[in-house]
Amino acid sequence: MIEYDSVTKVFKTGKTSVVALDNISFSIDQGNVVVLLGPSGCGKTTLLRLTNKLDSLTTGTIRISGKEIRGIDGTKLRQGIGYVIQETGLFPHKTIEDNIAVVPRLLGWDKDKIRSRTEVLLRMVRLDPESYRHRFPAELSGGQQQRVGVARALAADPEILLMDEPFGAIDPINREKLQNEFLKLQAELKKTVIFVSHDIHEAIKMGDKIALFDKGKLIQYDTPETILIKPENKFVANFVGADRALKVLGIIRVNDIMNRSAGNLVQYPAPVSDALKFMDEKNLNYGIVVNGTTPVGYVTPEHLRHKNKIVKDALEPLPVVIKTNDSLRDALSYMLMHNHTTLAIVDDNENFAGTITLNSIQKALRKHYPEHDQ
Ligand SMILES: Nc1ncnc2c1ncn2[C@@H]1O[C@H](COP(=O)(O)OP(=O)(O)O)[C@@H](O)[C@H]1O
Ligand SMILES: [Mg+2]
Repeated sequence: MIEYDSVTKVFKTGKTSVVALDNISFSIDQGNVVVLLGPSGCGKTTLLRLTNKLDSLTTGTIRISGKEIRGIDGTKLRQGIGYVIQETGLFPHKTIEDNIAVVPRLLGWDKDKIRSRTEVLLRMVRLDPESYRHRFPAELSGGQQQRVGVARALAADPEILLMDEPFGAIDPINREKLQNEFLKLQAELKKTVIFVSHDIHEAIKMGDKIALFDKGKLIQYDTPETILIKPENKFVANFVGADRALKVLGIIRVNDIMNRSAGNLVQYPAPVSDALKFMDEKNLNYGIVVNGTTPVGYVTPEHLRHKNKIVKDALEPLPVVIKTNDSLRDALSYMLMHNHTTLAIVDDNENFAGTITLNSIQKALRKHYPEHDQ
């Protein structure tokens, strides 16, 4: 747990002074990723640098695992905190292996231990140790260098990782890859991570919680959902964007709201008359046709009426089948593209799992998102 208690930092340069952080209080639970979000100059980097004592507090207290960092030697503290910065900060004249080994060497690890640790870390960030360990940073792409930066920060297996816009300088495609890889790693490692970003999409994706800053003040500290659904004020609402309703849909899974009752399933080989009767009794205007457990299409009473044998002959293909893990945003996007207001959902084994309708998406949105607020 990291606790910030009335943290203030004032930079004095000559006669002018800048309040970089103004009376900040919040705490970060162990194993969580907290994203510090906000426009340039709002104090994000400063908060990281106070946390690992690269800068000193003006007033206030920071505690890590209940211990005030004031009383901990800076170098010692930093050996237990991984730090990734945007420009990677790799030493250009050291090999990849030597870059990763900086902290382990400071800690006096022996050669074998360092070598095997480097290997594990390179694999972890998906760089083949044999081909990369002896290269120099300039021989790697930006994304690869960033991975080395993450490996280096993890070298001594610190409890805490501070990441300052770690993927900020990477192109969007590789950025997304790195984000996904990091989330996978984090699911295993469960570090306490402070992740700086100025990008709301990245913050929503990466953060268990988001701390939104403006001009040195902490404006809102909440889960991504709450930040999107209940922005504290105009600044937050503007920062998260006019399309925040869509962003909310991006974090709700199909699984959370789909209709599992499967009350409208029609069997593939069933006689048309049975299917019509079934749909009539249930007052259904469409039925999802399954072959065994696999959704294969849909039928409407109109389709069926013109056929006289089995359901199979009246089948219309399902435009898209989506997965339980997809977001409502994905589902909505498919609906718009395919002009369909109902989609079939399958599980990871491609078995029918339920349906989702445009109506249910709107309902979910209203539930998460009070009307007066839109
Ligand atoms: N060493 C410094 N000396 C003077 N002012 C600084 C120093 N570091 C940061 N600042 C000022 O503090 C404010 C916050 O900076 P910073 O934490 O780097 O913002 P962010 O990382 O959110 O972009 C800015 O106004 C910046 O100019
Ligand atoms: Mg910064």
